[in-house]
Amino acid sequence: MLILSIETSCDETSVAVVADGRIVLSNVIASQIDLHAKTGGVVPEVAAREHVLKMIPVLDEALIEAGKTFDDIDAIAVTQGPGLISSLIIGTETAQVLSFYLKKPLIPTNHIAGHLYSNWLGHEDEISFPVLVLTVSGGHNELVLMKDHYDFEVLGETRDDAAGEAFDKVARLLGLGYPGGPVISKYAENGDPGAFKFPRILLEKDSLDFSFSGLKTAVLNEIKNYAKEKNSGDAADFDEKFKADIAASFQEAVNDTLTAKTLRALEKYPEVREVHLAGGVSANRALREKLTSGLPANIRFRHPLSMSYCTDNAAMIATAAYFKYLLEPENYPSRQNITPHTDFEIFAS
Ligand code: KG4
Ligand code: ZN
Repeated sequence: MLILSIETSCDETSVAVVADGRIVLSNVIASQIDLHAKTGGVVPEVAAREHVLKMIPVLDEALIEAGKTFDDIDAIAVTQGPGLISSLIIGTETAQVLSFYLKKPLIPTNHIAGHLYSNWLGHEDEISFPVLVLTVSGGHNELVLMKDHYDFEVLGETRDDAAGEAFDKVARLLGLGYPGGPVISKYAENGDPGAFKFPRILLEKDSLDFSFSGLKTAVLNEIKNYAKEKNSGDAADFDEKFKADIAASFQEAVNDTLTAKTLRALEKYPEVREVHLAGGVSANRALREKLTSGLPANIRFRHPLSMSYCTDNAAMIATAAYFKYLLEPENYPSRQNITPHTDFEIFAS
């Protein structure tokens, strides 16, 4: 089954063509990173306008790269939410029109379900349930137990900021631009992870929730103290060594926390067969290494096979849509009205 999928939940315009939920024929991503770097974060109106400009060229390229035409496509999938409404509308409207005109099934899909399924992409061997997924992005941060396809239980989520958001904030404080994750992890390579003792906030003894706002504040205070000593609040005046040490110590605190929570979840759910890492922060190599080294030998560990499957992309939406469609194909006629949503709770749509 060939699915054409569209993702426009935030600042990436992406269209993919994926066969049977696993074989990626194309996954075109037009990133708006350069545009939003100027403002240090995503401005929704600017993002929406850019999606309008990129939607058709990206759609065109995805079909050409896959070597397919609309006649070959069996169904259209699209991210319904959560995300920025003004961005989602561009994708859902395009998908509705395509489905209506081509008379192909339309599968509205949850963005977080997309991240949960990103580890199916490109893997040929069977994935064994139950799977424990740690999905960590700029906008969301969850531990999810996948008992079967679309049988999800959210075990823990962030009570304040997502880890990716903390990476972005710390990078901004150090004057390193947007997005924070890649540049912080690069700086961390030259820093001392023990230079600053930042908190690992684990909450109540048996909680699987996350909290990163205290860590963010601790980093902010350290930077303020340094700025006072330096007599300059301008990050351009900060020493490279200081930035590297902050980056390394902060990254270590985040990764220790994420790993501890994952191991805590494994203790609670010993029936888990696989642990998957997903979302933008899954691109972090130090996190992958820390998680891998902490896991028991009988647990299969997977992270997205390509960097482009970590951050927002349409291929993962096609996979999540495919497994949903297989369960109830009659639920996805063409000519549907899809209302974009911002609700993080709705895993079913
Ligand atoms: O999944 P994603 O593209 O968008 C959301 O759904 O939020 O994730 C983007 C987030 C950003 O916060 C970015 O700083 C973070 O993923 N990120 C990383 C790395 N690459 C991207 N965080 C840590 N280390 C990285 N290498
Ligand atoms: Zn995402």
